[in-house]
Amino acid sequence: MPLSPILRGQATYPFVRLNDAAAARRAQGLEVIDFGMGDPRESTDPRIIQALKNGVLERMGYPAAVGLPELREAISRWAARRFGVLLDPADIIPTLGTKEAIYSFAQVVLDPAAGKDTVLLTEPGYPVYERGALFAGARVETLPLLEANGFLPDLDAVSPEVWRRTALVWVNYPNNPTCVCAPPELYERLAALAREHDFVVASDEAYTELWFDEPPVSALQLTDLTNVAVFNTLSKRSSMTGYRSGFVAGDPALIGALKQFRPTIGTAPQEFVQRASVVAWDDEAHVERARAVYARKRRLLLRALAAKEVRVAGADATMYLWVATPAGETSEEFAARLLEHGVLVAPGSFLGPSGEGYVRFALVPTEDECARAVELLEVAL
Ligand SMILES: Cc1ncc(COP(=O)(O)O)c(C=O)c1O
Repeated sequence: MPLSPILRGQATYPFVRLNDAAAARRAQGLEVIDFGMGDPRESTDPRIIQALKNGVLERMGYPAAVGLPELREAISRWAARRFGVLLDPADIIPTLGTKEAIYSFAQVVLDPAAGKDTVLLTEPGYPVYERGALFAGARVETLPLLEANGFLPDLDAVSPEVWRRTALVWVNYPNNPTCVCAPPELYERLAALAREHDFVVASDEAYTELWFDEPPVSALQLTDLTNVAVFNTLSKRSSMTGYRSGFVAGDPALIGALKQFRPTIGTAPQEFVQRASVVAWDDEAHVERARAVYARKRRLLLRALAAKEVRVAGADATMYLWVATPAGETSEEFAARLLEHGVLVAPGSFLGPSGEGYVRFALVPTEDECARAVELLEVAL
């Protein structure tokens, strides 16, 4: 049977391996507290759930690919409140979460015949940028996120030849998995390079709302959004991963290209999801409550790790902790040792070669489970 060589060449999605290991342990009747995947387990605000229910009508036709005007307006209001920017609702496109839009974005911008055949992405990181690029037939170049550089990409290390071939650069701040936020200068520099070398900057901002001290900035705050696309989602902000609701906003020319592209591959989210999303983007109280819960869980874990002199390399924002592996152990070995004690974490190496030396805790278990994990870590570490 013919099968895509890209598919054949890909190892199992690493988290499938992680879940298999946890399942094997559970099958033996053993406890597992799962800090592996970043799927929030906080409940969704009841008003959002009610809006979803109210949105189910006797007949639901295809949703228009451009999304409901009410939702685009709600996102525009949110961006104004949160980042002080004025976005024309026409320059916002609702997506089914952001994963599908991230995956297919390389197909929208790559132009190999014009010499624009390369996608640059940071690693360790979310694996979908690379998979989308490869399936689009791109060359992929990686920008390592190293602690020595504050987990920011070293843009000076990119050769002029690579810039010339680059069609798309992915960045993700606040960063999964390293938890650092971008300084505004990073976006300014990238946007200037994008104009100089004619590539698109895609800023994946899935975690801008999960912060502890200071609200992170957005690439939407750039004074010139030429060649810039920003992706954001309700998944983490509003604990709505199952709803599938996000958006892309930015350069009107890019949003125009997406409006042309998206009707072919699918649609906007189901209209009842879009109606629920209007309520979610219009409300900050539930987001503040979620942040408070993450902050308490973060404090619990940070205290437990500090007590055992385990170094936390990043914890400024997101729902993760980026924890240094103790000397003499690889990240997979450290994760295996923690799993033997019932604590499931993601080895950093699963997220890219520069993730070696770290493990990632996703602060998704309940507060009670986190308290129990502290007891287990007391023995494991
Ligand atoms: C960095 C990053 N971007 C995007 C996503 C996609 O989220 P969604 O498709 O639920 O919007 C995730 C999900 O884990 C993520 O970690």
